[in-house]
Amino acid sequence: MSGSDFGMNIILVGFMGTGKSTVSRLLSERLGWECLDTDEVIGRLAGKSIPQIFAEDGETAFRDWESEAVREALSAERRIVATGGGAVLRESNRLQMLERGRVVALTADKASLIRRVTSAAEGTRPLLAGDAEARVSQLLESRRHAYDFAHARVDTTDKSPEEVAEELLRGLPEGWL
Ligand code: S3P
Repeated sequence: MSGSDFGMNIILVGFMGTGKSTVSRLLSERLGWECLDTDEVIGRLAGKSIPQIFAEDGETAFRDWESEAVREALSAERRIVATGGGAVLRESNRLQMLERGRVVALTADKASLIRRVTSAAEGTRPLLAGDAEARVSQLLESRRHAYDFAHARVDTTDKSPEEVAEELLRGLPEGWL
């Protein structure tokens, strides 16, 4: 299948802390494609931060902004789109992703995820408020199969973002780019 048969974008999905944003920036440099982060698009569209949206409007309002952000991010070609960890929860988002590009799920073992999310700035991920370790365990369980729809997956455990980007590029179908 050639890239012109469907939307030509690379879409990164995966749990919080799998490195989607960092890897998307590396891929963007490598390919010369624009990179977009749906969390950043949400901030721009809503005119407020993600913690503010959760606190003032609730998670459903956040998910509505997120669907809007997914649509906007996928409205062009040759983009690397890093999505928020929960962007895969709505079927309409998943279908758009599959239609508009190559969807790659980044994974990592639980210990790595906990290490990464607890070393990130506190308070930036409302779903992990309180006992972040316990929340990661709960969410991982409830999202056990949430990323299975992706075309491909790359395990990021014990790999640098550069190694993940390389592996992802090597895994693209022949002639896809
Ligand atoms: C969320 C993940 C976050 C952000 C929001 C909700 C989730 O993005 O969209 O806090 O539901 O998993 P990252 O995966 O970039 O942290």
